[in-house]
Amino acid sequence: MIPPYLFAEISRIKNEAIASGADIIDLGIGDPDLPTPQPVIDALCKSAQKPTTHRYDETPRGWTSFLEAAASWYGKEFGVNVDAATEVVQLIGSKEGLAHLAWAYIDPGDLAIVPNPGYTVYKVNTLMAGGDVFEVPLRESNGYLPILADIPTDVAKKAKLFYVCYPNNPTGAIATSEFYADLVRYCREYDILLVNDMAYATVAYDGYKNPTVLQVQGAKDVAIEFHSLSKMYNMTGWRLGFALGNTNAVNNLQKLKSNIDSKAFPAIAEAGAHALTEVDNKHTIEMYQRRRDLLCDGLNDIGWKVQKPKSAFYVWARVPRSDMSSAEFAGEILKKANIVMIPGNGYGTEGEGYVRMSLTLMGDTDGSRFQEAVRRIKESGLVPQAVGV
Ligand SMILES: Cc1ncc(COP(=O)(O)O)c(C=O)c1O
Repeated sequence: MIPPYLFAEISRIKNEAIASGADIIDLGIGDPDLPTPQPVIDALCKSAQKPTTHRYDETPRGWTSFLEAAASWYGKEFGVNVDAATEVVQLIGSKEGLAHLAWAYIDPGDLAIVPNPGYTVYKVNTLMAGGDVFEVPLRESNGYLPILADIPTDVAKKAKLFYVCYPNNPTGAIATSEFYADLVRYCREYDILLVNDMAYATVAYDGYKNPTVLQVQGAKDVAIEFHSLSKMYNMTGWRLGFALGNTNAVNNLQKLKSNIDSKAFPAIAEAGAHALTEVDNKHTIEMYQRRRDLLCDGLNDIGWKVQKPKSAFYVWARVPRSDMSSAEFAGEILKKANIVMIPGNGYGTEGEGYVRMSLTLMGDTDGSRFQEAVRRIKESGLVPQAVGV
């Protein structure tokens, strides 16, 4: 869980600085700054004119053209056949689906395995459903992949869900096909539902293509994968995603959801189908890549050694000071350089010692704000090697 005092303190300093007219560079939030591509907005306007979209979507798992588009996108993108009629469910954003999956599977006393550091939704919803979590550490030394052999057997036997997220928020790490194969084997052995959160599936650089869990032979027996239009098409506000894979899991999630929500506005689903089938958002990805290079090259040049992520839009960096915690460093960088970074312990105890910087910066068009960020970080004197550079 995010320690509330920590964020409260950072936003207090940030708001004070803004009120006093400071020029803040906010690398905190991970939310695409570019607008949704125009063809998607046009498709929404067109669909919104159709009275058929004005009523309840009474389908069992989602608007048919959207489910078909999702299945066909997945086949084209990852080479895996998915049956739109039985293996896909539409979501009001992947957060909603990931959260409700916990409610569908976890009874009081049940266990979910969750990553630490990790997107907080898996843990919080497991706890709210009355379950418990086993937090599996993600460490730099293992490429931020969990070490399955380190999970106690009694935990594995008891676990109902195993949440993973690649490309990873917050570390920017990627998975390998070998890791997915091991994980599928592991979840099959212990009868655990494998949940892969791929919210950043196609946000990738230098021509890199992410593997998926469903590419593993037989993965559909044990796995469900969550996808989102939010980050792939700059559509965070639209609230549209989908999950695909194991039919039972898709059905269980749908059963719970049908008692809670009545799906998205069908015109949004139609516009989403248009995005998945017709829209190439490579301009946005190229911009993140340019920013990534300016930020990472710049920080490395001033003596703060950071890795360039291959995917997602976060730079996860070790705090360059041994005398400061993540929170202290984030506080100091905000005070001295007017830059917002997220302290890594906000994503779990294993995040201590790191900060996360997002490449989605509102108002930046050509990467120059990232160059400005590097300049300010250097001048702050907070990176020891950079003093006097
Ligand atoms: C790892 C991860 N999963 C899921 C989500 C939720 O995305 P959405 O609900 O917009 O689809 C986010 C959003 O930040 C995320 O970082």
